[in-house]
Amino acid sequence: MTELTYESFISLIKSIQINLPKFEMPKLRIGDLVARVPIVQGGMGVGISLSGLASSVAENGGIGVIAANGVGMIEADYFKDGRAANIRALRKEIRKARSRTKGIIGVNIMVALNDFHELLLTAIEERVDLIIMGAGLPIKNIPVDEIRKNNIKVAPIVSSQRAADLIFKMWKRIYKDVPDAIVVEGPEAGGHLGVPEDEIGDPAYRIEKVVPEVRETVAPYQEEFQREIPVIAAGGIFTGEDIYNIMKSGAQAVQMGTRFVATEECDADRAFKEAYVNARKEDIGIIKSPVGLPGRAILNEFLEQASGEKQPFKCPWQCLAGCQADEANYCISIALNNARKGRLSRGFAFVGSNAYRVKAIVPTAELMEELRAGYLQTLFNDMKERAAEVISRIRQLREEYLSAEERFRVAKNAYERNLAAKIENTRKESISALRQEYKKASAQLTELRLKLTERIYETYHELMDGQRPTDLLADR
Ligand SMILES: Cc1cc2nc3c(=O)[nH]c(=O)nc-3n(C[C@H](O)[C@H](O)[C@H](O)COP(=O)(O)O)c2cc1C
Repeated sequence: MTELTYESFISLIKSIQINLPKFEMPKLRIGDLVARVPIVQGGMGVGISLSGLASSVAENGGIGVIAANGVGMIEADYFKDGRAANIRALRKEIRKARSRTKGIIGVNIMVALNDFHELLLTAIEERVDLIIMGAGLPIKNIPVDEIRKNNIKVAPIVSSQRAADLIFKMWKRIYKDVPDAIVVEGPEAGGHLGVPEDEIGDPAYRIEKVVPEVRETVAPYQEEFQREIPVIAAGGIFTGEDIYNIMKSGAQAVQMGTRFVATEECDADRAFKEAYVNARKEDIGIIKSPVGLPGRAILNEFLEQASGEKQPFKCPWQCLAGCQADEANYCISIALNNARKGRLSRGFAFVGSNAYRVKAIVPTAELMEELRAGYLQTLFNDMKERAAEVISRIRQLREEYLSAEERFRVAKNAYERNLAAKIENTRKESISALRQEYKKASAQLTELRLKLTERIYETYHELMDGQRPTDLLADR
């Protein structure tokens, strides 16, 4: 017998000609917000993820996210009035994204920003679908009532169970409410990292470990607040297989950054994206950002120089609450803005640890399809034995059905022949008796068809269900 492959499985399912529940990636549900694909595009600050990237991801079924930090740097007057430029640019980008898609649009706001609160209010006013908050704990001064009034969902980003625990406990105490989802970002992520520099390699922080821990933390809140609280895993997720594996460990979705940089629609200059394509493993390293957090970047001459001597700069305004501009060797916002514009000699690119695996810049739709196909292929490999069993049971039932159908066809022909013969020389009553019998036979056939379809469905569910992700087959 030839080996069962994913393709042959799908074609067998099709050949059975019974509409089985869809074989698909599970949807991501955050309350009444439903993303067809369980992929959130990570917010990437200082102009990397704006309306272009966010709308293309949303259009392809995922959640597109506009990053609020440094968004005003795309405006001409940022250096005159950074706060005003940020608010104006964020509003414009949200509206632009909305005009391009009916999909789900979120905003990522760093808690460590000096204008965190103003940006948060802007996102609420613009009624985005989801607000993701990281780089600090979003606990104090969150306008939860306004957020709820506008039916906006909230997801904090954490790197540990401890942080998740603290956020949920405090929200419950202060707001009598809890966040709608939670992002667990591990040490393989791009951008600033929530894990201390000397603990980046510590297995205790790996997402495979933290995701189930955070699931455990949110479980009692799900009960108490009667809502599902999806856990979204981020950091180092590169392929559809990675998505499948982390979802098997308990995540309901993933957040990805690096892969989305290398797309046609990403809002950065092409040179920024090409830096990803050209990066080798040894070019990627950890830097100590002037913000005081470690970050992962493509190491270059700019960073080398900046680590040794001060690069003269004029601080446009204190954009980050914790930044000590006087002591910093360079301004991180200016450096990231230069990189965004393709001037990598005067800045640098943040990247995830897997960026060296990026081989080409592709359209978002192509990337999403690649991830979906990889996910389904892995799912299939994982349940190959079950799949073979399902196929043989369904085929057997199909055979039974076909022979029953044949038996009834013979019976039907006999009735019809009989009927034709009797019409010529019989009375009305016997014709109506024959019709009754014929009707009964065809009702039996319909019933059998229903029963068999039902049994096929049951068999399929019985064998495939209980798989993780559990809603794998439900066409919800
Ligand atoms: C270029 C770049 C910029 C980023 N900027 C931000 C940011 O401003 N705020 C934030 O919360 N996360 C930021 N991140 C993290 C992403 O949102 C995402 O969680 C992370 O990239 C996931 O890891 P991956 O790149 O391995 O997929 C950034 C990541 C990259 C690669």
